[in-house]
Amino acid sequence: MEQPSLHPDRNLAMELVRATEAAAIRSYPFIGRGDKNAADGAAVDAMRAFLATVSFQGKVVIGEGEKDDAPMLFNGEIVGSGEGPETDIAVDPIDGTSLTAAGRMNAISVIAVSDRGSMLDASAVYKMNKLVTGPAGVGVVDIRDSLSQNIREYAKASGKATEEVLVAILDRDYNEHLIEEIRSAGARTRLLRDGDVAGGIQAARESSRVDMCVGIGGSPEGIVTACGIRALGGHMQGILHPREQFEKDQGLKAGLKFDYVYEIDEMVSSGNTFFIATGVTDGAMLEGVKRKGNRVVTESIAIRGKSQTVRTIRAEYALERWS
Ligand code: FBP
Repeated sequence: MEQPSLHPDRNLAMELVRATEAAAIRSYPFIGRGDKNAADGAAVDAMRAFLATVSFQGKVVIGEGEKDDAPMLFNGEIVGSGEGPETDIAVDPIDGTSLTAAGRMNAISVIAVSDRGSMLDASAVYKMNKLVTGPAGVGVVDIRDSLSQNIREYAKASGKATEEVLVAILDRDYNEHLIEEIRSAGARTRLLRDGDVAGGIQAARESSRVDMCVGIGGSPEGIVTACGIRALGGHMQGILHPREQFEKDQGLKAGLKFDYVYEIDEMVSSGNTFFIATGVTDGAMLEGVKRKGNRVVTESIAIRGKSQTVRTIRAEYALERWS
């Protein structure tokens, strides 16, 4: 008898989308209600419950933190039904908890999956400097070069005028110098209040206006983004950005490298990756979860690295199932 494969296959994405849908639906009552912890808690609970029903054995590489601080989806935990493919999994039940609480746009629920042992555990260091583009930037941009040079080279390679190049970047003090550099290079910024996973994925989608996503953001979010970008055939590099000596020591102990450019295939070393996201609030990438009559409607995206297929999935659930 043929043995079942231990590698994730195409069906997994369709199963996992139920978990991001559930996280988005359970966070719905908290959208615009000012309590980000309640929104996040509801999303985490829902994601965990649904993941338990999926036939796979997912090792949480990027989760909610260490076991002692995170009662669920902690780093190292094995989630899933206990049968089926062995994978690494990165979860962000809500990327944009503050956006959700405030009722602002662009919050999403995300899962990334790849072959077991292939995801970099960068969780010891919280921040990463990132450079993300779509396929047009592959072999063209390099994080070691100045941002203005990368913008110029990207514009040339993609046949765009520099002033048409749109660069997404988190609106933070620590990115101020890059924001100025983008503008003085003649390009445009899209300042993100939060949510640089969606910003990064947008940079690699042809349907999106965003060309590049750059600057410092969360390193867990960086690994999640890398899975999606690998699946889309785009460019991504990251440099860890420790804020204190303590973080650097913690990172060194975990085997992480500093002043070092992580290429995309070091952030996720397998091409067999999946990126799944559901909109929590309306955004440029996905519509947010909403109630329509007695239905709850979600919009999700599922990207599969092996085939580079992107699926958009609209689901309508009976509201009574969720009361
Ligand atoms: P949370 O939803 O987990 O708060 O993350 C939102 C986010 O904006 C990420 O998208 C981003 O990578 C990170 O926070 C940036 O960190 P900080 O807000 O500390 O600058």
